[in-house]
Amino acid sequence: MTTNSNEVEVYWYLTAPDGPSPWSSDGARKIDLPYLRQIASAVDQLGYTGALLATGPHDTWVLGSSLISSTEKMRFLIAVHPPLISPVLAAKMTQTFDDFSRGRVLLNIVNGNTPQMQAYGSTLEHDERYAYTDEWITVWKKAVAGESLDFHGKYITAEGKALQLTSTQKPTPPLWFGGSSQAAHTTAAKHIDTYLSWGETPPQVAEKIKELQALAAEQGRSIRYGIRLYLIVRDTDEQAWEEANRLLKTMDETTVENMQNNLRNSDSVGQQRMLGNHNGKIPQDARELEIYPDLWAGLSLVRPGPGTAIVGSPETVLARIQEYRDAGITTFIVSGIPLLEEAYRVAEKILPHLPIASHSITPSKQEEKVFTWEHKIH
Ligand SMILES: Cc1cc2nc3c(=O)[nH]c(=O)nc-3n(C[C@H](O)[C@H](O)[C@H](O)COP(=O)(O)O)c2cc1C
Repeated sequence: MTTNSNEVEVYWYLTAPDGPSPWSSDGARKIDLPYLRQIASAVDQLGYTGALLATGPHDTWVLGSSLISSTEKMRFLIAVHPPLISPVLAAKMTQTFDDFSRGRVLLNIVNGNTPQMQAYGSTLEHDERYAYTDEWITVWKKAVAGESLDFHGKYITAEGKALQLTSTQKPTPPLWFGGSSQAAHTTAAKHIDTYLSWGETPPQVAEKIKELQALAAEQGRSIRYGIRLYLIVRDTDEQAWEEANRLLKTMDETTVENMQNNLRNSDSVGQQRMLGNHNGKIPQDARELEIYPDLWAGLSLVRPGPGTAIVGSPETVLARIQEYRDAGITTFIVSGIPLLEEAYRVAEKILPHLPIASHSITPSKQEEKVFTWEHKIH
């Protein structure tokens, strides 16, 4: 938890693919557990608050669990699609992760998009998934806090007390969330601790925060705000734009066209906003996709989700970060390409100039350390 209103949290990104140009077969690195461990160790030692484990090729819970014992401080922001897992089982996994990591787990509740969810066997449509998530979070919060359940919703029924533990973080580990549709905002206002946005421009972000603040106030709540951005930082602005141009040169038209055709089918409002930043064509010069001073939309050509980068010298990048802070952002989830090398660069050039909040590691205090056969039905 942030201790001072001026402080920020800075998370890195810990999700495949990766490499010098991960959208191309010769620029994508082999990703295995030892490599992911290297990124986690860098995050852990370089002063980041933690890392986002987004849904990708690896299961986020298994990936996170595999990295607990090779890290000491970093917090794990684990992406979860509610329709794909029972809220009580997710609560049990959260408690276990929270216990073993000494209070270092947070959940990122994500809605995905309909074709992606159908491929996993969920038939709920976009807004219905948010209605489901509303029930899911209600049950998860009670279960993770160790309460007995008597919940009869439209989608979920849960009765009794299945879980023997309580969470290490009280009352529950934090819930974060990204989603830009109206249904997303309503759900966030009701339940969420930190609302995340992909890298829209500072005025767009300020507008979103204003709307969410009003919705949260109607619920008698206040929430915190975060943003997911790439950073392309070099000693000078010119060198940083050269790097953006290098990335652009590794993109080919077929890769871009395939990605854009895929993404056009997504019913994610946030995704459509990212797509609206360009016309799907590779420009001659990176600066043609500078949608706001120092904000580059080029990565949206080749990747789903977050596709904008702040490009510039450390001074330029810090000035833009400050502009987001002025808009109300306190959490930055940033990354660079490749993840490992750029974790060092950002830690050396940017982190020392930011007031990063410190988090205490919570010693495990499970009330029930001795388990008996009394609990055998579970
Ligand atoms: C910072 C951030 C991280 C996200 N991570 C994931 C993720 O790991 N997996 C996923 O399927 N969606 C992810 N999303 C997208 C959400 O699923 C989002 O709810 C989706 O775009 C649909 O929401 P919308 O139509 O309300 O915008 C993320 C969104 C943001 C802002």
